[in-house]
Amino acid sequence: MGLVWRAEMATGIRAVDLQHEELVAMINALAEAVVAQADSAALDALAQRLDAYIVFHFGTEENLMSTLPRGSEHVTLHRQQHREFVAELARLRQSGAFRELLSYLENWIVAHIMKTDRALALQLRQGGR
Ligand SMILES: [Fe+2]
Repeated sequence: MGLVWRAEMATGIRAVDLQHEELVAMINALAEAVVAQADSAALDALAQRLDAYIVFHFGTEENLMSTLPRGSEHVTLHRQQHREFVAELARLRQSGAFRELLSYLENWIVAHIMKTDRALALQLRQGGR
């Protein structure tokens, strides 16, 4: 277990890349706690911190999206992915399924960064064309 930051995950947007690196570190901290069989209060505290950081991070990305043309298909899909992720994360956290939450997080975040966040960076570079 454990995510490793890779150069292919870079979007070229410094604020976003720094936040992604922080997210990877926070996910790995949760993974370590799961492996160490920390009690559920400790796991929930880590998951809660992660949750708050994710909301902040999605806010950063969605502010950048607001510079793209209205009705952009990318923006609609990207925001929808964020909302679904936040909802699923909340569901898993409430049910105390921390192992499942962790694998969902690890898989989702890498796929989302590589595909959707990199597509956002490209759109921003092209001015939404
Ligand atoms: Fe995103």
